[in-house]
Amino acid sequence: MKARILRIALASLVGLVIAAGIAWWQVQQAERVVTTGVADIGGPFQLTDHTGRSVTEADFRGKHLLIYFGYTYCPDVCPTELAAMAAAVDKLGPLAERVQPLFISVDPERDTVSHLSDYVGLFHPRLVGLTGTPDQVRDVARGYRVYYAKAPGSEKAGNDYLMDHSSFVYLMGPDGRFIQVFPGGTTPDKMAEAITQRVKG
Ligand code: NI
Repeated sequence: MKARILRIALASLVGLVIAAGIAWWQVQQAERVVTTGVADIGGPFQLTDHTGRSVTEADFRGKHLLIYFGYTYCPDVCPTELAAMAAAVDKLGPLAERVQPLFISVDPERDTVSHLSDYVGLFHPRLVGLTGTPDQVRDVARGYRVYYAKAPGSEKAGNDYLMDHSSFVYLMGPDGRFIQVFPGGTTPDKMAEAITQRVKG
């Protein structure tokens, strides 16, 4: 009799563990779908542009957006990507008017308005730089699934730290919807070709 009760208890326990496991797996699956959902990239933001004007995503409606997240003190990757993005815009010809390139800082601590203002002009006359409070930057980066953090060991570097960050160029529609992402290293030609198709179509 005791053995039977023990068996039932054990079976219930196993059932419970399996049920919990299935529930956990379902939650993981659901989260995975949400975090990779293409339509889910982007969203509202409130930031300050390189002229000191407060802007939101609504200020850019009606234009396709090319967005790159980075920081002005980046020694190599950001300048390379921004130069590629600027070259792609120039290759668009008359269509370029319908595309607004944006650079969003992931280093609001150092990327002040005046600093951004000096920086964006180095790449393209129409490039708009955006920065904000740490919370505003965190929110927009979250919306675009952008990872960024001070590089390990940077705590000791004072104001001389590096940032780790993901490096993608996002193409957004004139309605603010996500269209496409270009991985770091995409050539200006390839970018321009894809943008042309999307903007025309
Ligand atoms: Ni960078």
